Amino acid sequence: MKKNPANNIESHLHESRVFKPHAAFSKTSLIRDMATYRRLHRESIERPQVFWKRASGELRWLKKWTKLLEWKPPFAKWFLGGKINVSDNCLDRHIEGPRRNKAAIIWEGEPGEKRTITYQQLHRDVCRFANVLLRNKIKKGDRVIIYMPMIPEAAVAMLACARIGAVHSVVFGGFSADSIRDRIADSGATAVITADGGYRRGTIVPLKHNVDAALKGSKAIKRVIVFRRAHNDIHIEEGRDVWWHRELEYVDANCPAAALDSEDPLFILYTSGSTGKPKGILHTTAGYLLGVALTTKYVFDLKEADVFWCTADVGWVTGHSYTVYGALANGATSLMYEGAPNWPDPDRFWRIIADYGVTVFYTAPTAIRAFIKWGDTWVNKHDLSSLRLLGSVGEPINPEAWMWYHRVVGASRCPIVDTWWQTETGSIMISPMPGATPCKPGTATLPFFGVDAAVVDDNGREVPADVGGKLVIRKPWPSMLRTIYGDKPRYRKQYWGDFKGWYTTGDGARRDKDGYFWIVGRIDDVLNVAGHRLGTSEVESALVSHESVAEAAVVGRPDELKGQAVVAFVTLKTGAKPSGELREKIRSHVAHSIGAIAKPDDIRFSEALPKTRSGKIMRRLLKDIASGNSITGDTTTLEDFSVLTRLRDDEA
Ligand code: PRX
Repeated sequence: MKKNPANNIESHLHESRVFKPHAAFSKTSLIRDMATYRRLHRESIERPQVFWKRASGELRWLKKWTKLLEWKPPFAKWFLGGKINVSDNCLDRHIEGPRRNKAAIIWEGEPGEKRTITYQQLHRDVCRFANVLLRNKIKKGDRVIIYMPMIPEAAVAMLACARIGAVHSVVFGGFSADSIRDRIADSGATAVITADGGYRRGTIVPLKHNVDAALKGSKAIKRVIVFRRAHNDIHIEEGRDVWWHRELEYVDANCPAAALDSEDPLFILYTSGSTGKPKGILHTTAGYLLGVALTTKYVFDLKEADVFWCTADVGWVTGHSYTVYGALANGATSLMYEGAPNWPDPDRFWRIIADYGVTVFYTAPTAIRAFIKWGDTWVNKHDLSSLRLLGSVGEPINPEAWMWYHRVVGASRCPIVDTWWQTETGSIMISPMPGATPCKPGTATLPFFGVDAAVVDDNGREVPADVGGKLVIRKPWPSMLRTIYGDKPRYRKQYWGDFKGWYTTGDGARRDKDGYFWIVGRIDDVLNVAGHRLGTSEVESALVSHESVAEAAVVGRPDELKGQAVVAFVTLKTGAKPSGELREKIRSHVAHSIGAIAKPDDIRFSEALPKTRSGKIMRRLLKDIASGNSITGDTTTLEDFSVLTRLRDDEA
């Protein structure tokens, strides 16, 4: 164990497995070796003018920028003087060449419909819908809420806003009327784009109905545009609501992309993380687009013939940055699927991969752990040989989950990119280069170009190898958030308050002797056991490495003797039964894997864990339960409230 003089986070997990990229993969990849990665990374940090001048040539500018960066901490402006349009970059420039008839979006609805939309068709759809927006008096700078199912029209709506300079704020289709109402109020939106309904687990989600409930008693929204998807009965409010398909009858497909300023806002996306009131994260045009375009290209090592499937809903930043903007900016084929991974059976994803020959598959650890729980047979039923690269995002991927993903989904053939980033960072910040970086299960490895990441103690000093501290970014980067919409003081305090000029991520991390970054959990969740500070992720990974455990969350409970006792909430794999004996076995397993200090004092078996809609475990709620307190704070982002009730009932 490392000495801990400065009250740093300790590290006990030691992963010795290393997976080098296969020579055949490296040979055709964009970054083929570590020397190339290091040279480019060094250039991006030491000579940003040179690096970004070249990189920005990947985009089409309507007017070239003149100044790279204006940095008045914590406010940054990138590519000053430039004029650009995101939708022009994602569509127009591709239809001028051989990609004109290439599939831009391949879509499958949950009930099974299939659609393929070429770049030319998507361009036409976006232009026409942009004209619908203009016809409905939506103009540059206006905020527009998009509350849609995962259908191509969600992307059309986003790109149409981008085309005319309206600022979209996508609200995840699983959120309630209250969430829509809050976001309308905070963003000052004047229009909503929605659908009658969408499909999820065989039932229709009544989207328009939720919008009606959200708008009750408010005059803020002047226009609601409704796409007909599910054909469920809805109410149309005369004078306010219009049908998407009817509006199309009045417009043509001629809609030049507006020449926007590099720093014109592109979107606001609300994020709560796992605590507190949602924050409207504001992203702007050029820097964001360049960040997503470049990371999509290099991290996923894009090839012209790829079928790229990022499974995230467009309601999350991952859906914005990779399903829509990053993929399309690169002229890639992006797959979208509307529904649940286990509908009608737990092999839906594998079926889709086989049906469309998906080559790059990007999903979240929460999904991977669910697949493990459902069993390998569902995966093995399908031919997944088209896959060449796998990705993970959203949480630390436990080494055992990584190994399963590698072995069962990737047939020990596909590299895995474990990508660390945040809604706030806009694009991937730490990730392997799949053709170059030797991977170790559980680490996002090394920073992307332009990212100056470090792990520091409370005084801002870099900590030695294998000692945990705060993950910070020491330089601004193009796709960074520009502010919290309408709340500069909160922006300053939350992200830039710890160290002058450095961005605080809120995550705890350590670097190993190779300089790889290991995320150990959110700083707010760090446990303090008998004076030892432990990140949640290592203890959870130790739990998940037990053969019966599917998923685990650990939290601290006040303890007179130790300060905090470790409480683990554990869900078991299909077939495993909770028992006192299993509890003891799991406790010993943790003690054996990472040391007695992390041995859970208490293990609670549970059928499910409370998660946000995007799949992150809400440890804050578990802390309340573990301490026997009533639940405090916001629970509106909770995916399934009954999980909490069941957890508390288990207690009784
Ligand atoms: O704690 C980190 C975790 O997710 C947080 C960001 O969440 P959100 O803004 O919802 O964005 C998710 C999609 C980018 C981070 O602060 N996180 C995300 N990716 C990883 C991760 N933790 C560990 N490893 C990752 N690859």
